[in-house]
Amino acid sequence: MTTSFGLIIGSGWENLPGNDPGAEVGTAYGKPSAPVHRLQFGKTHVLTLARHGEGHSLPPHVINYRANVVALKKLGADAVIGLNTVGVITGLREPGQIAIPDQLLDYTWGREHTIYDGRRGKVAHIDFTEPFSDGLRRELLAAAGKAGVDCCDGGVYATTQGPRLETAAEVDRLERDGADYIGMTAMPEAAIAREVGVHYACIAMIVNRAAGRGDVPIHDDVESSTLAARNATMSLLEAFFEAV
Ligand code: HPA
Repeated sequence: MTTSFGLIIGSGWENLPGNDPGAEVGTAYGKPSAPVHRLQFGKTHVLTLARHGEGHSLPPHVINYRANVVALKKLGADAVIGLNTVGVITGLREPGQIAIPDQLLDYTWGREHTIYDGRRGKVAHIDFTEPFSDGLRRELLAAAGKAGVDCCDGGVYATTQGPRLETAAEVDRLERDGADYIGMTAMPEAAIAREVGVHYACIAMIVNRAAGRGDVPIHDDVESSTLAARNATMSLLEAFFEAV
């Protein structure tokens, strides 16, 4: 079976999606964050979408996650890879490195987070025990291995509401809850992908130590770590799309 891939591209990489004109896609949930582009990785065409809009105009809590996932599905994607920048809480990895988380905690609120919203005549309760697609996670990890990229296998991604970063006490609480990474965008994206039947996994690009955990200001950390995380992600993706 051939898989068609969508890539939802997060902060710090707005020029990645490609420079073809892009397709404006309408969905039952409204418009996605941006036109959907096609990016060529080796012989593979990948659908790409800038999660925060072109020009990074949409903060995490106003993104139309439903329209983003549904638009990619409508154009034929049956697997979606989310690129999500995160801060790291525990010692699993360092800023500048990457991870493929295997679990999620959701602290977001007020987002349109489900297609089963009671307005469309159908209610369903998806099984979300394992929030990421294991097959896709394994393939991403194999690609990292092939590319010689150090990539952490697993860890718990806590999704916060943003757009502000956390207080040090909030990070302590998240660690007590079991979180390893903090980001603002994996939820409800992952749940909606499960609801619409699209495989989903996330490449967590670690760009800073979480609040209260580093010895430099967070934004300095982000500035000095983003490029390394991006390069690692690009090497992984190139190896991944060479293999599919
Ligand atoms: N907290 C929340 N979201 C983030 C962070 C963080 O430290 N870094 C990148 N996205």
